[in-house]
Amino acid sequence: MAASKKKAKTKPAKKPVENRPALTTPEGYFGDFGGRFVSELLIPALDELNAAWKKYSRDKKFEKELLGLYNDYAGRPSLLTYAANLSKRYGAQIYLKREDLLHTGSHKINNTLGQALLASKMKKKRIIAETGAGQHGVATATAAALMKIPAHIYMGSEDLRRQALNGFRMRLLGATVQGVGGEHGTLRDAVNEALRDWARNVDDTYYLIGSVIGPHPYPTMVRTFQSIIGREARQQILKAEGKLPQAVFACVGGGSNSIGMFYGFLKDTKVQLIGAEAGGRNMTPGNHSASLTAGKPGVLQGALTYIIQSPDGQVHDVHSISAGLDYPGVGPEHAYLLKQGRTEYVAVRDKAALEAFQDLAQEEGIIPALESAHAVAAAKNHIEQMRKQGKKNPLILICLSGRGDKDVQEVERLLALPPEPDTAEEASAPTQFTSLPTVKVVAAGD
Ligand SMILES: Cc1ncc(COP(=O)(O)O)c(C=O)c1O
Repeated sequence: MAASKKKAKTKPAKKPVENRPALTTPEGYFGDFGGRFVSELLIPALDELNAAWKKYSRDKKFEKELLGLYNDYAGRPSLLTYAANLSKRYGAQIYLKREDLLHTGSHKINNTLGQALLASKMKKKRIIAETGAGQHGVATATAAALMKIPAHIYMGSEDLRRQALNGFRMRLLGATVQGVGGEHGTLRDAVNEALRDWARNVDDTYYLIGSVIGPHPYPTMVRTFQSIIGREARQQILKAEGKLPQAVFACVGGGSNSIGMFYGFLKDTKVQLIGAEAGGRNMTPGNHSASLTAGKPGVLQGALTYIIQSPDGQVHDVHSISAGLDYPGVGPEHAYLLKQGRTEYVAVRDKAALEAFQDLAQEEGIIPALESAHAVAAAKNHIEQMRKQGKKNPLILICLSGRGDKDVQEVERLLALPPEPDTAEEASAPTQFTSLPTVKVVAAGD
């Protein structure tokens, strides 16, 4: 029987946004990473946004309004569920932070409500956004409908194919959806197109970025909106278990659910913070999208961060089974935290994620997003490693960033394909391995 431990209910968080000083410097750098590498055309728009963000993130009325939206509209605080069956199967005590239960089905709503509220305070007439899996697009279209601001969403054409239902959902919510990047278009193309649109329409348009990526102040602002995940989870697990978890897992695309979760535990240095990137088919260039595991520092979409690039510095094509992780970069704060040694990252293969997807569905009756399944797979691997070291029954917390309704058709298609043969490369180090000590590759059955 699942969820048999005492119920981990919590009081609603008092603060929807975090006011304590961020790691960012005034110029928007996290150590060496971050900054603003954009065309001069966008600097006034970023300055305007930064000024508004500074003002409203300290404004009690804004805070109260946002908290009202989180609690009464989005469904916060999200539950913490003890996954009893999965715990038994994997040999650990596993708690799931249920962002999948929020309105629109993922953590993306935390950010879009925050930014759409900011856009309305800034009296913007139009919201634009990029989306990968479509979850951010749906969450943006939802928040824009609520604020009565027209939304225009850019989505890679390949992602639109994989996530057709989300494309239709956005249109139902009143947004205009534009497929970009030709037949292989993904999140990278969508971000580029949205930045181009913003440069043309800076006066009346708000660009609602969906992750902790892009130029300053986006990485700080989005992390602040998402940090409610970690603050709630810390409080909930302390209430349920009277102690902190040994390790916390979250998947990493652009990096917003993970940074939001990790932020609650940053100062708890005994808690391991482990991000699960997409290890894709294998770790050769073009077959994965594990930017921290296999990338190098470079500039992507306005920020200096880890990106997957060819030897001559061009951004490389990437792949993941999940549209939300299929991105060649990552939020600059993750790059900083990795360099500091505070966080660790593993690359999870498509195959391992697909297995974890089925494990969670069959053990707990919870169908996760394919993105979140990467975090479950990383936890499974970690627990196995711990067991080999004689550490039994660890307390584990996993961020379930979204629900899997959007993925069931794609999973049906993938499960019908003949299994891909394991190659000798699977066990070897990735070609562009950065030799950072805290990253490793997780293959199914490793
Ligand atoms: C459910 C879900 N989880 C995770 C992600 C990855 O984004 P991030 O790393 O910003 O949390 C996405 C992106 O679309 C998503 O839809």
